[in-house]
Amino acid sequence: MELLSNQPMYQTVPEKYIFPPEKRVVNDIILHSVNFPVIDLRGGRVDAEGWCEIIGEIMKAGKEFGFFQVINHGIPEKTISDMLQVCDEFFKMPAEEKAQYYSNDLSKPFLLNSSTTYDKSETRYWRDYLRLVCYPIEEVIDSWPEKPENFRAVLSEYTLQVRELSSKLLKLIAEGLGLDKDYFGGDFSTGKTQMNINHYPPCPDPSLTMGLLPHCDRHLITLLAQGTVSGLQARYMEGWINVEPIPNAFVINFGHQLEIITNGLLKSVEHRAVTNSAIARTSIATLIIPKTDCLIAPAKELLNENNPPKYKEFIFSEFIKAYSAASASREDVLEFFKLN
Ligand code: OGA
Ligand code: NI
Repeated sequence: MELLSNQPMYQTVPEKYIFPPEKRVVNDIILHSVNFPVIDLRGGRVDAEGWCEIIGEIMKAGKEFGFFQVINHGIPEKTISDMLQVCDEFFKMPAEEKAQYYSNDLSKPFLLNSSTTYDKSETRYWRDYLRLVCYPIEEVIDSWPEKPENFRAVLSEYTLQVRELSSKLLKLIAEGLGLDKDYFGGDFSTGKTQMNINHYPPCPDPSLTMGLLPHCDRHLITLLAQGTVSGLQARYMEGWINVEPIPNAFVINFGHQLEIITNGLLKSVEHRAVTNSAIARTSIATLIIPKTDCLIAPAKELLNENNPPKYKEFIFSEFIKAYSAASASREDVLEFFKLN
């Protein structure tokens, strides 16, 4: 397998990474003046009705953007910086050291791959990545690399912290929806937690390539650490917003399941990663996933005459099949589950 991170810096972009003009980013509108929501999770006034203002901010951001960043979220800076560093170190290891992890077998709990695409076309993404199961830790830790030396310890700590933050956020979201605060605590969020550790080396011509094509995430909710290098863009109206890195912040976005459970109130929004010519970028996406046999449907508590269900009931594993068949296209995949 060819890894981008094993190559000496290319002078020009090899053919197989060059997207046809209609998939390139150059003509897209980038909405520089839109304020992407940043939510401070520390404190937060509680009003006379016991309503915490953070919940209001999350709901507002969630309805308008489907995306927001959180700061003062309680995860120590060191946990995040150690994790980003150990991931960078992994990709910097010699090719021979990494070769044992290469695999196309998605059933593996830990694998290294490069440049695969969602859309089954031949053009390859400008991205190397690790895809791993991170929780329950004791079930998967033996599949994690022993090098870099502290990889396992750092990943364990990061996993625990990020899962805790995900529970906190899901409780706030449930409250914001008027549901029991533990609504998402069971099968909706207790499938095996997965991580995508994305590594985008510098690219000689970012106008020709993509780190990740536009897609929506297929599960419940994603918590992304993106270090200090920008590259993530979220769809907004007729254009795209650059999600500017804030040191130690997490970018939160809703997956398809949260959109369906909220009957479309909280949208799963398309996003993509663009490349740059200057500096490598590493991002860590933690994916909170329902149990495979979890029953998904719009929450009954949210439905009424004015808000009839937009989606049918299904088992999460059926969704995953449809997602692959629809090549991750937002509208195509939702079409399978729409009621009309
Ligand atoms: C993902 C993803 C964005 C990024 O892994 O699903 O959208 O910035 N990553 O790397
Ligand atoms: Ni994504």
